Amino acid sequence: MKLFNHRQSYDKNSLSISDIGDNPMEFFKKWFNEAEKSDQIIESNAMTISTVDIDNSPSSRVVLLKEIKDNSLIFFTNYKSKKGKSINDNPNICASFYWAPLERQVILKGIAKKTTENYSDIYFNSRPFNSQAGAIVSNQSQIISSYDELIKRYDKFLEDYSGTSLKRPSHWGGIELFVQEIEFWQGRESRLHNRVICNYIDDKWELNLLSP
Ligand SMILES: Cc1cc2nc3c(=O)[nH]c(=O)nc-3n(C[C@H](O)[C@H](O)[C@H](O)COP(=O)(O)O)c2cc1C
Repeated sequence: MKLFNHRQSYDKNSLSISDIGDNPMEFFKKWFNEAEKSDQIIESNAMTISTVDIDNSPSSRVVLLKEIKDNSLIFFTNYKSKKGKSINDNPNICASFYWAPLERQVILKGIAKKTTENYSDIYFNSRPFNSQAGAIVSNQSQIISSYDELIKRYDKFLEDYSGTSLKRPSHWGGIELFVQEIEFWQGRESRLHNRVICNYIDDKWELNLLSP
């Protein structure tokens, strides 16, 4: 299957280095809010997280961003999952967003750390009962014998625990990406896109243009 003729032209917006100001995380929030407002973007907080495991093998997958802090991004996962293990062995991770209707990409890199137990508890307790149960029953990233067997265990769990309040398992919680680098990409005509790379060095942001 050749896709040689699949191509879009980008001409909706432009980005110059002066648009970003002296705090690229604030600018990220601005772009995020614009993505949130777009009717054409269904999950603006869906981001691709890339990890590199102990054998130097890379993996990527989508997770949902749950909080943007001054210098970090937070998502939730199972610490025993493939990504959880990779992050434990190698905390260098990358998050990327592609908001197609705005012709924008943002790539953020930095160091990942587990959030505090208290923070993870607060989020876990805010989730619907069925999602809490799913997080408890699913040994994320493990091979299972059948989907039916998983559903049976889930249904049995609901039967046994409905009406009770569930406790967050210690292997499930938040991951906070402390951002050290952000690249903003705005699609432009003739593939001459705007790219600005921002690096946090010696307590301040350094901004540079990159060739597309
Ligand atoms: C839209 C979307 C949102 C997702 N959100 C999460 C999430 O917030 N946390 C999570 O652990 N997995 C989430 N997943 C599932 C992951 O992509 C992935 O399948 C799972 O975390 C196991 O990844 P791993 O085996 O690489 O650790 C989401 C998937 C999609 C498509």
